[in-house]
Amino acid sequence: MAAERQPIGVIGTGYVGLVTAAGFAELGSEVWCVDIDAEKIARLQRGEVPIYEPGLQELLARNSERLHFSTELAEALERARLLFVAVGTPPTHSGDADLSAVHQVVDSMPASDRHALVMKSTVPCGTGANVKRIFRERGRDGFSYVSCPEFLKEGSAVKDFMSPDRVVIGDDGDWAGDAVVQLYEPFDAPRVRTDIASAEMIKLAANAFLATKISFINEIANVCEQVGADVVEVSRGMGLDARIGPKFLQAGLGYGGSCFTKDVSALKLLAGNSGYHFQLLNAVIEVNELQKRRVVAKLERHLGELAGRHVGLLGLAFKPNTDDMRGASSLVLAARLQAEGAHVKAFDPIAEVQARKLMPQLDYADSAMGTVEGADALILVTEWPEFLELDWGKVAGAMSGNLVIDGRNALDPQAVRAAGLLYEGIGR
Ligand SMILES: NC(=O)c1ccc[n+]([C@@H]2O[C@H](COP(=O)([O-])OP(=O)(O)OC[C@H]3O[C@@H](n4cnc5c(N)ncnc54)[C@H](O)[C@@H]3O)[C@@H](O)[C@H]2O)c1
Repeated sequence: MAAERQPIGVIGTGYVGLVTAAGFAELGSEVWCVDIDAEKIARLQRGEVPIYEPGLQELLARNSERLHFSTELAEALERARLLFVAVGTPPTHSGDADLSAVHQVVDSMPASDRHALVMKSTVPCGTGANVKRIFRERGRDGFSYVSCPEFLKEGSAVKDFMSPDRVVIGDDGDWAGDAVVQLYEPFDAPRVRTDIASAEMIKLAANAFLATKISFINEIANVCEQVGADVVEVSRGMGLDARIGPKFLQAGLGYGGSCFTKDVSALKLLAGNSGYHFQLLNAVIEVNELQKRRVVAKLERHLGELAGRHVGLLGLAFKPNTDDMRGASSLVLAARLQAEGAHVKAFDPIAEVQARKLMPQLDYADSAMGTVEGADALILVTEWPEFLELDWGKVAGAMSGNLVIDGRNALDPQAVRAAGLLYEGIGR
């Protein structure tokens, strides 16, 4: 079977590109990976993995003979017809998606009637049409284009890639769409083959909907606090309704990560740019921003002024099992606490290197207990498993104060209280 698999190129070797490359190599394709970051490519050539993603190192190592890394496009173009694009599309200052990396890739494509760009990067609806227009204007009409958005989640990216809920392929019904369908043949997942604009919109709409679910339950949590209900019970009762489902109904410090924040904003602005005011998304964004800050008010309610107080942050990454700090709630929270004059000490089992780049001024502990030592209050920011197993008796003995704020509603309130600590969750 391996001999029949098509070779592919992957442009951009970040979270999505590397997982895509490793996943297709596992299924038997030769994969030619290209990145402009020479240091990253050098590390990959040495067999090092520049990001933390469970299972990725093993997958890359197991398929190392089929994986080729370079800063040059030439070999990918020579060996492969399908060129997957997985470059970053971060927000610009205006909140629109910054497509400069995508355009850099488009600009570097030669005239060809045997290649296709397969867009895995999340791009605004209309990008495919624009790229095709650019190809046409430059006499490169032979270049095909397919939209194939990626739905993997950091922290379980390998598993998500290998067993997707669905595969979305938007194309013009030409050879390239058929070739991508063939590549995904071994995946046991429903396939949505559609036009390019609809495929682009599926990705943006899915992320915006998930973000809406999170902001919705966070608002319910805030009301629960006013009326004495427990949002954990409410979520459970709601989530058992098959029309609603239990996922993304966990109240907390708000969503983070590179995707939700930028994709919700990109969809809102895409709508605005095309003449539609997407009211709901304004609220989703605002609720999320305020949610990250609500914890500060909780601390003040218990401790009074925060100046001079010692606050320990358990976790910094935007969620467990990743080192990604993009859009993490901890960035806002730590900055707000420091602005109030608090001493902030933090520990994250994996994300410290990334966190130090963004928050060099923070005091970093080398263990969870190092954060606990002398703290007036602790905040669970990221629900890494090791924090859920803390010995609360020891924690109580090491803290100066007694306040534990469970920013993810992930701790056992009874266990925390049994140690003589004051437990505060979100909406419970
Ligand atoms: N991270 C996720 O969970 C996730 C999930 C689904 C979709 N996406 C989307 O996938 C895209 C990539 O996300 P990511 O998290 O992997 O980004 P990333 O920042 O981790 O990786 C992007 C890579 O592209 C490289 N790059 C930039 N310009 C390039 C160019 N011109 N040629 C070659 N390489 C270039 C960068 O050096 C970097 O290594 C984004 O559009 C994102 O929205 C991300």
